[in-house]
Amino acid sequence: MSRPSPDPQKKLFIKTYGCQMNVYDSERMAESLEGYALTERAEDADMILLNTCHIREKAAEKVYSELGRMKKLKTAKPDLKIGVAGCVAQAEGAEIMRRQPAVDLVVGPQSYHRLPAMEAVLQGGGRALDTDFPEEDKFAHLKGRGQAARRAPAAFLTVQEGCDKFCAFCVVPYTRGAEVSRPAERVLTEARELVERGVREVTLLGQNVNAYHGGMTLAQLVRALAKIDGLERIRYTTSHPNDMDDDLIAAHADTDKLMPYLHLPVQSGSDRILKRMNRSHTAESYLRLIERIRDARPDIVMSGDFIVGFPEETEADFQATLDLVEQIRYGYAYSFKYSTRPGTPAAERPQVDPAEADDRLQRLQALITRQQREIQQSMVGRDLTVLVEKKGREAGQMVGKSEYLHAVHIDDATAAIGDLVPVRITAAMTNSLTARERR
Ligand code: SAH
Ligand code: SF4
Ligand code: F3S
Repeated sequence: MSRPSPDPQKKLFIKTYGCQMNVYDSERMAESLEGYALTERAEDADMILLNTCHIREKAAEKVYSELGRMKKLKTAKPDLKIGVAGCVAQAEGAEIMRRQPAVDLVVGPQSYHRLPAMEAVLQGGGRALDTDFPEEDKFAHLKGRGQAARRAPAAFLTVQEGCDKFCAFCVVPYTRGAEVSRPAERVLTEARELVERGVREVTLLGQNVNAYHGGMTLAQLVRALAKIDGLERIRYTTSHPNDMDDDLIAAHADTDKLMPYLHLPVQSGSDRILKRMNRSHTAESYLRLIERIRDARPDIVMSGDFIVGFPEETEADFQATLDLVEQIRYGYAYSFKYSTRPGTPAAERPQVDPAEADDRLQRLQALITRQQREIQQSMVGRDLTVLVEKKGREAGQMVGKSEYLHAVHIDDATAAIGDLVPVRITAAMTNSLTARERR
């Protein structure tokens, strides 16, 4: 008779920073580390992985303060292994181990398929570093998604990685490398596996997802995914205005499963600044593009990203951004104060006074908040459909997302997690909507 293993299953704690692509990668890393079960508590872990973001200075600095805290856990539990993955790992590599000697492992975003081998090195008492951009497709070498436990009804699915655009402020082309698309067949297989595990909505991810070219265009991929029974909703993010082709716009009109929500960052409304940012589109071309998208899908909710205080931005440039936002009417928008990133072209240029940049950020955010509220308010009284994702805080309440990606709280719900329920929106709260089921 075989005896129970003397080594109970080890525990893995992953903390994820940054964008949705990191969320997806964290899931895949956890699945690839066989022999580890996930834990929610760092104190219980045998291995801690920080999946990091390098996009702004604050994001990167957070990692070092977190590592300081993790080091204390290691003092109490010397066998604890600490790893750093993601974009800070790629950008800083061995420097992380120098700055924080408690770190055992540094792995860049393109090398996750090598993680199990690296983990074995750690068990042998070594340290491991890998920040290559290997030729092979990491996803093809990572374990399949399999038929494991059922999972949440909405899932991310990375289809494209990297960026060739080189906006003057941005580290992504350096941390994630050149644009690469996963073959459509693999994406479709993974989507089918996810559906078998209970997934009803997928969000296709890429740094420039609409530049996808895995043997099909993104529009073709969306239509192929729409044929999968049981997959009810498709979204994609993040798109670049220059890669928004006619067919993808047409897909918003002809593919019911493609949700009426589009995140399309523009960064600034000033052509002078857009040029300095190396964005290769103008405010006018962006406005015309959105007109065409709204012609195809009039109810689409638009989302965007903005940077204020980019080097040499004047008050007049900033006013042009406010004007553009006024014209678009965003359902969501994210605005950031420019953060100098080492190695990017804009880092060398004359910087805007930080107090002035703060002031602009506040003014832009006030405008965006007003628009977001108006769009939320416009949903009241409408009949929408919600994909139920979890229980609400109050008894009888369920929470999910509408077509337009608003969080919706359904009162006195009979629906279960994973159901698509018809609702009538009854009120708009600060960050969500409330609704009742239509029966
Ligand atoms: N690939 C996407 C998103 C990139 S990062 C795109 O092209 O839109 C997400 C957002 O972070 C960007 O859209 C931008 O608004 C912001 N961002 C990137 N670099 C930044 C920097 N150096 N300072 C402040 N915000 C930045
Ligand atoms: Fe960064 Fe620009 Fe590429 Fe987006 S398009 S990831 S902002 S370089
Ligand atoms: Fe951050 Fe890397 Fe994503 S820098 S935003 S985690 S691609």
